[in-house]
Amino acid sequence: MVRHEEIQLFESRYISGNTPWDTGRADKNLKALIKELAGPGAKILEIGCGTGDNAIFMAGIGMKVTATEIVPIAIEKAETKAAQNSVSVNFLLKDIMEEDIPGKPFDMAFDRGCFHHFGSFKDRKKFARRVKHHLGPAGIWLSLMGNADEIRPGKGPPRLTALQVVEAVEPFFEILMLKSSRFDSNQDIPPRCWILIARTRSASGAR
Ligand SMILES: C[S@@+](CC[C@H](N)C(=O)[O-])C[C@H]1O[C@@H](n2cnc3c(N)ncnc32)[C@H](O)[C@@H]1O
Repeated sequence: MVRHEEIQLFESRYISGNTPWDTGRADKNLKALIKELAGPGAKILEIGCGTGDNAIFMAGIGMKVTATEIVPIAIEKAETKAAQNSVSVNFLLKDIMEEDIPGKPFDMAFDRGCFHHFGSFKDRKKFARRVKHHLGPAGIWLSLMGNADEIRPGKGPPRLTALQVVEAVEPFFEILMLKSSRFDSNQDIPPRCWILIARTRSASGAR
């Protein structure tokens, strides 16, 4: 997809309110895992932060959070929410695929529903490489993504097979966990997701 088309697509969804992922709270999977993955004061990079609930949650428990987005209206909403919650997040309008995010190396990267929307192996592999580029040694990537094992009536999030996740991620990361779960959702049947926890490979362990 051409980049400006991708931005327009997400932008039109934020403007029309067609954003089923935007629950108004941090995802329960992130809440359950964050403390075992990152200590107090850890530097976190959130990629594709949407309207900011996950970034605000992490900042609220003492992490130093930088959060990126490609859609201005989403970042504006996120900044308003952060101010209302009296927490500080470094929200940036930046495209992870094309631009370096100031503040690297980060201790942990987090994305919920950003990696999964890339439709080609080439783009998913590039995304994984770009995540690694922003992490320090033994940096952790926690990703929540749609899971192709779910047959769902109607629309739902983009869904990846385990193989599609592994083939893009493994060249750059050691996969520590790939577990089936469900997104935190306001829908009656929350969509299934994968929880990926991966650690950057050292140069000697590179594939
Ligand atoms: C499904 S939404 C999820 C938003 C948020 N993570 C959440 O859970 O509410 C995916 C988000 O990724 C953003 N995005 C897509 N491509 C991106 C890129 N290359 N760099 C940064 N953000 C991107 C989109 O604008 C969109 O807000």
